[in-house]
Amino acid sequence: MTSPSVARVYDYYLGGSHNFEVDRAFADRVLDALPEMAAVAQANRAFLRRAVHHMCAQGIRQFLDLGSGIPTVGNVHEVAATACDDARVLYVDNDPIAVAHSRALLDDDPSTAVLAADLTDPRRVLDDPLTRSHLDLTQPVAVLLVSVLHFVPDEADPAGIIAAYAAAATAPGSHVVVSHASDEGGLSGASQAQNLYNRDASPNRMRMRMRMRDNEELTALLAGLELVEPGVVRIPLWRPETPVGPEAQRYPGLAAVARHTGPPGD
Ligand SMILES: C[S@@+](CC[C@H](N)C(=O)[O-])C[C@H]1O[C@@H](n2cnc3c(N)ncnc32)[C@H](O)[C@@H]1O
Repeated sequence: MTSPSVARVYDYYLGGSHNFEVDRAFADRVLDALPEMAAVAQANRAFLRRAVHHMCAQGIRQFLDLGSGIPTVGNVHEVAATACDDARVLYVDNDPIAVAHSRALLDDDPSTAVLAADLTDPRRVLDDPLTRSHLDLTQPVAVLLVSVLHFVPDEADPAGIIAAYAAAATAPGSHVVVSHASDEGGLSGASQAQNLYNRDASPNRMRMRMRMRDNEELTALLAGLELVEPGVVRIPLWRPETPVGPEAQRYPGLAAVARHTGPPGD
């Protein structure tokens, strides 16, 4: 609590109250550099809602939400409750405060479970008894990696991590849902924001390290999966429900939904 956390800083962008002075001071510096940051976080949550609706429309009833964050309005289980019948959600995060808040909020809800784990260790997540008891990986699953992959550095092999989850969730209809920070939209504040995160990532705070990726890089991370229309696009442009203006092209974030098409174990 003496250093900022990704989860609590994000909660602050979203107007939540599960954050401390140290988080707010850091987030305010990011907001000075990139005033659009709060709107970007809201656009990300709106994408999450649209993607969950889309998954429900595809018949998916199970959600593995990796890097799920501090529960806030419009969490996956709430959206799924309105869009699917009997959805099951497993929330996974490596931030102790995000996990504690999630457990406190969801303790009475048997359709949700919360796992404290690092998503960069897919075997640890997939083989955990809680994962095995809460999700049936022989049935379609949506693997959600929403606004988290930019905290996975290249040396952790994000493509291999995505492939490992996709390989475990191969029932026909399984999908991977991704949103990702990107500095290719031409907003100078985006790379400044990335620098602020990285400057804060001292050796004992490596979780703050941020690696924005462009469209080509994110597309490469999803190699082997079939992109659902409209492919990798700026977050507001992924199946918008209302018309979006030209400013959407400058959004410092990308979104995509991809389908696993190979045979089981592929
Ligand atoms: C920006 S928040 C996004 C929360 C949520 N997915 C959303 O879009 O609203 C990123 C979350 O990912 C978590 N996170 C970052 N790296 C992680 C890792 N290696 N394993 C598990 N969780 C991670 C952080 O603790 C934080 O809660």
